Amino acid sequence: MTRQVPIGVLISGSGTNLQAIIDAIDAQVLDARIEVVVSNKADAQGLARAKKHRLCTEVVDPKGFPSREAYDQAVVEILQRRGVELVVLAGFMRLLSPVFVKSYSNRIMNIHPALLPAFPGLRVQKKALEHGVRFSGCTVHFVNDECDEGPIIIQAVVPVFANDNETSLTARILQQEHRIYPRAIQLYAEGRLHVVGRQVLIDHLTTDESQVLIQPPL
Ligand code: GAR
Repeated sequence: MTRQVPIGVLISGSGTNLQAIIDAIDAQVLDARIEVVVSNKADAQGLARAKKHRLCTEVVDPKGFPSREAYDQAVVEILQRRGVELVVLAGFMRLLSPVFVKSYSNRIMNIHPALLPAFPGLRVQKKALEHGVRFSGCTVHFVNDECDEGPIIIQAVVPVFANDNETSLTARILQQEHRIYPRAIQLYAEGRLHVVGRQVLIDHLTTDESQVLIQPPL
């Protein structure tokens, strides 16, 4: 059996991706152990999910810190104290400073609700709709010093329909986030991810050339 990777999950909000990770561990399709859940917000709904599963939680309120670096250093210390090897950003709505990124180089993952490098930043489902794209989706990537810019691990594509609004597209994308995030972490757990420059090389992949999507359909 693959070892259980000690992970720390960072959240700011509802924590549905955290829940998907918890569920994947429970279903034994993800060889990870959540050592700590850290939130920058005391009222994050995800904290209740963590507590329900008896996970250790920490709230680190940015208000108490003089700088982004000081805040990040405090979070890194919590993660290191708990023996966290891989940091999982699951709706953590703060940019990480180089202090953080250096401490966990190529060991921080983020999930983003768009097909990067298209639509980095915030409210990206709205931006995708306004742009008129036929597909959007989600991306799990390693975090580097630039926002939403690091090497891509896995992506899922969803269609965008004429009658979509921000809510419906967000929900369609979120469903796929819950599938690909545990998968990305499992690939890490299996030691199959190798960052080479901008690329993430994955050991033992199969390819399927028929995986073409056309929207609207032919
Ligand atoms: C998710 O859609 C995630 O992709 C997004 O926040 C949501 C968190 O949902 N993250 C970002 O936009 C990061 N820039 P959750 O709290 O229910 O997992």
